[in-house]
Amino acid sequence: MKVVKVLLLTLFACITLSFGSDTKTGSLNIQKVIITDEMRVKYPIKSHHEHLAFDCVDCHVNQGDDPSKFKNIGDNGCMSCHKSKQFMAKRLKFMDTLKANPHNSVHDGPTLYCDECHFEHQQSTNMCIECHEHEVPQWMGVTP
Ligand code: HEC
Ligand code: HEC
Ligand code: HEC
Ligand code: HEC
Repeated sequence: MKVVKVLLLTLFACITLSFGSDTKTGSLNIQKVIITDEMRVKYPIKSHHEHLAFDCVDCHVNQGDDPSKFKNIGDNGCMSCHKSKQFMAKRLKFMDTLKANPHNSVHDGPTLYCDECHFEHQQSTNMCIECHEHEVPQWMGVTP
């Protein structure tokens, strides 16, 4: 688990570096987006992303310079850093023993959309609860 985290952080460092060089060469003017305090309150960033010093444009890539017009980043947005659904399934492989891996469910395998459970600017949910109200708290932790 530790090794995986270290690898991911290294990957993240590379991604950040490549974002950095993009802005230096001026090929993208993502730095020019002005985010008001009001917007920051309205669209809070999850602590697991905020402590990595993510800003809005790290996720809302190429969505223009008007933050009020930013759109959902969708699965592809998440995958630009979290690699693939198969990779996410493997990360929670230990949960396969109970058939309770949310990233590799008995019904759908690793095919669900991230936003069937995870949200960035509001509390996440867990769609399995729709049918497995009682089992889910035993199977899984709170959706981060
Ligand atoms: C970690 C990625 C991430 C970061 C960082 C992020 N967003 Fe988002 N944003 C999303 C996702 C995912 C959605 C879809 C709704 C949700 O998950 O809450 C979204 C939706 C939005 C929307 C559209 C909301 C709607 O009603 O359709 C706006 C506007 C927005 N974000 C603004 C911002 C602003 C401003 C910031 C910086 C303060 C920011 N976002 C930072 C991922 C991100
Ligand atoms: C710009 C890169 C980036 C984007 C885009 C991004 N993430 Fe992340 N996210 C990370 C990194 C790096 C971490 C911390 C290392 C890790 O746990 O993978 C993280 C952590 C997380 C965590 C917490 C992991 C834990 O250990 O508790 C969740 C949940 C998460 N991301 C979900 C999402 C979802 C869902 C999306 C799409 C809406 C998304 N992320 C988009 C880079 C990103
Ligand atoms: C069916 C609901 C569901 C879906 C769909 C889902 N997740 Fe999760 N995710 C969870 C739950 C629940 C956890 C916490 C698992 C635990 O540790 O108990 C989690 C944990 C995570 C973590 C932290 C993993 C770790 O190693 O600690 C990341 C990152 C993440 N999800 C990203 C994603 C991404 C990206 C997608 C889209 C491919 C996605 N999730 C789809 C429910 C879901
Ligand atoms: C639309 C309703 C529905 C949703 C949503 C749903 N399930 Fe199920 N699930 C069922 C039904 C119906 C069964 C079969 C009856 C039973 O065993 O309870 C079942 C059975 C299961 C079983 C037992 C299968 C076996 O072979 O022993 C597991 C484990 C399970 N679901 C996990 C999940 C997980 C994880 C999620 C979320 C990713 C989820 N389910 C979402 C309806 C649902």
